[in-house]
Amino acid sequence: MSRKVAVFRREHFNAAHRLFNPSWDDATNDKVFGKCAWPHYHGHNYELEVKVVGLPDPDTGYVMDMKVLSDLIKREIHSRFDHKNLNLDTVEFKNLNPTAENIVLVIYDLLRPHIPEQMDLQVRLYETPRNFVEYPV
Ligand code: NI
Repeated sequence: MSRKVAVFRREHFNAAHRLFNPSWDDATNDKVFGKCAWPHYHGHNYELEVKVVGLPDPDTGYVMDMKVLSDLIKREIHSRFDHKNLNLDTVEFKNLNPTAENIVLVIYDLLRPHIPEQMDLQVRLYETPRNFVEYPV
């Protein structure tokens, strides 16, 4: 049996967004996205869970130093998105609808290059305590 272990780090950020498809008219956006299409934006308290899977290092006993993982999330994710309007203030969502699904894909792509190749990465994003997404599945 594999001796791989999953380690998790949870972080938090607040951000505003608006869901809409610019190629649709207002009525269609309203119908599909409801109050999430509100033109003056709305905010969420996003909870982010980052999971890294690997073998504990024989010298440290760590899969990954949690301080390193925490600093990485702060640098790549928190500093980019915390207290930002995702639609207006970020390049990542300038032309990408900031649904939880798209946000989790963007976060994965930002983190993946910084996690050692032999380790698996999975990201879970809570938009509300009851609505959350995960990538990869
Ligand atoms: Ni929303």
